[in-house]
Amino acid sequence: MHHPIFVTGGAGFIGSNFILDWFVASSSPLVNFDKLTYAGNLHNLESISKRPEYRFVHGDICDRAAVDQALREHRPRAIFHFAAESHVDRSIVSPEAFLETNIRGTFLLLEAARAYYAQLAESERQQFRFLHISTDEVYGSLNASDPAFSETTPYAPNSPYAASKAASDHLVRAYVHTYGLPAIITNCSNNYGPYQFPEKMIPLMITHALAGKSLPIYGDGSNVRDWLYVGDHCAALRLVLERGLPGETYNIGGRNERSNRSVVEAICTLLDELRPNSAHAPHAKLISYVKDRPGHDRRYAINADKLERKLGWRARENFESGLRKTVQWYLEHPAWVEDVTSGAYQQWMQDNYQTRGAACEA
Ligand code: NAD
Ligand code: TYD
Repeated sequence: MHHPIFVTGGAGFIGSNFILDWFVASSSPLVNFDKLTYAGNLHNLESISKRPEYRFVHGDICDRAAVDQALREHRPRAIFHFAAESHVDRSIVSPEAFLETNIRGTFLLLEAARAYYAQLAESERQQFRFLHISTDEVYGSLNASDPAFSETTPYAPNSPYAASKAASDHLVRAYVHTYGLPAIITNCSNNYGPYQFPEKMIPLMITHALAGKSLPIYGDGSNVRDWLYVGDHCAALRLVLERGLPGETYNIGGRNERSNRSVVEAICTLLDELRPNSAHAPHAKLISYVKDRPGHDRRYAINADKLERKLGWRARENFESGLRKTVQWYLEHPAWVEDVTSGAYQQWMQDNYQTRGAACEA
């Protein structure tokens, strides 16, 4: 039996996609350690949950004893650390959970990994990796003419979310330098694709447009994000496990810069095409410009040269193909949307959008 890989946060958006893709490419075992916050959803993993190579552990990375126990029991060859609080707007409304999970949780996970690594046999140590999945938001905001973020761009986080991820990146770096933990950091741009919780912009706009609700664009809609299809992110992470060098950072992004306004318009055009008889077509009439996010970063853009040159990665989807797949997935999964948008989601919609002056009932 091979040693498994140990995934934290595998019931969330990127983690679920990572696990589903993992079992397409490999039959190597995998343990999913997840607290199942509002963002974690085991339904995402139903298609692989009965595989003998898959294990789920319900646990919190802030619970050191639980992490120690899981590492002792499963003896992983690598840790993929996805678990985090991940939504910028929530970090503005209630930052504390972000400090708790993203900073303290990562610290405790690093401590557990350090103790685990120390007792491995030499041959196992050679193979062991800790992959820390992070974001381009740690680099702050770009002006229109600035070059894209590279691995040497200084950190300048602007939101509580970005600051908490930056702090976690610094801790990982320190554990490499101080303790020799073979960790690798990846900083990825905005992901989109199946199973993304509809608090994030793309699935929020798709699900609202389908229901005939308003499409709340913050500010004037000219903020730019660099979009990457989630499957391309997952492929990059598998490559980093195979070929990435401990202590290195790799930026991941698809060279797909788009303004928020153009993304929402593209979603509306796709829905007009795919649901021509909808009572809500043309969907663009649902667009409404609402009060901006405080401290809203203007532009993110990733320079992924290092990943492409050193590890041979290439994004397979462009924005048009990836967005079409994504819209189609949401059209085909109304029960999934219904399930995740009932209950506590309604309260979040009120908390975040009522004060923006948007007629944005959930
Ligand atoms: P998500 O919010 O969809 O999922 C987070 C998962 O972590 C959930 O399953 C949740 O239950 C779990 N979790 C939260 N707190 C936990 C804890 N204390 N212990 C154990 N599990 C816990 O997030 P996502 O969008 O899938 O992002 C995953 C990672 O990728 C995050 O670290 C995020 O910072 C990073 N990232 C995300 C993006 C993006 O566009 N979504 C881009 C770059 C990097
Ligand atoms: P989001 O998906 O929250 O990702 P991030 O803030 O991590 O980049 O938001 C993407 C962009 O969309 C960001 O510029 C904020 C904007 N946005 C809106 O205009 N309206 C919305 O309702 C949301 C959630 C985001």
